[in-house]
Amino acid sequence: KTGRIPFIAGNWKMNLDHLQAIAFVQKLAWSLKDAKHDFATTEVAVFPPFTDLRSVQTLISADKLELGFGAQDLSQYDSGAYTGEISGAFLKALDVPYVIIGHSERRQYHGETDAVLAAKVAAAMRHGIVPVLCVGETADDLEKHGPSAVPVQQLRDALAGNEAITEIVVAYEPVWAIGSGQAATPQQAEQVAAELRAVLTELLGEDVAQATRILYGGSVKSGNIAGFLREPNVDGALVGGASLDIAEFASIAQFSK
Ligand code: G3P
Repeated sequence: KTGRIPFIAGNWKMNLDHLQAIAFVQKLAWSLKDAKHDFATTEVAVFPPFTDLRSVQTLISADKLELGFGAQDLSQYDSGAYTGEISGAFLKALDVPYVIIGHSERRQYHGETDAVLAAKVAAAMRHGIVPVLCVGETADDLEKHGPSAVPVQQLRDALAGNEAITEIVVAYEPVWAIGSGQAATPQQAEQVAAELRAVLTELLGEDVAQATRILYGGSVKSGNIAGFLREPNVDGALVGGASLDIAEFASIAQFSK
């Protein structure tokens, strides 16, 4: 027993508008209630698009749902002439507890560099929002450098200057496993997670490293989640496609360590 509460996080990506989000969260909450989900045993959160956050936050607070939520990105800046950006201050004003930082789709399609991501981690820290920092290697990286070199370096770079952080979630998402139906094996995920935890220990100290949840992401489904959770350094999952199917996501959430 590590004291780390397993975390099942659903990254909706650019899916579900705010009206769909309201219906979805209501149904998900009912499904979890029907299944007598114990949020103290497994934390569950959804990560909707920005335009849904206000609706989701209102619903969660009005209905006193234990379901958590978070944003998919934030600006490295707090305010000003940055058209199209969303600041950590705005997220904090909506009581957003988590923010995904450095998803491979942001790195790949929006040119987010490790330096930008370190600045985004700093921005989340300034506003008291817990980063869900994504790291992971491409198929090419895997072939050239093996599984852990790239995610380890990405973690080091994102934490550079941010060593005072006390709460962070790390998501190991091998890019080749995302949306491919080809998940990593639990052993592969464990190997990288263990190396990531060693880096956390070196940079953030033993206490923070031991308290940090490391999630696996990439083609997680109800049929393979149990294997990942059996690994000592894997504390949950960041789920993409399967998080858009209420029954499937609720069923993934039923698994615990
Ligand atoms: O952030 C989660 C994601 O990238 C994994 O996606 O569809 O493979 O579960 P998917």
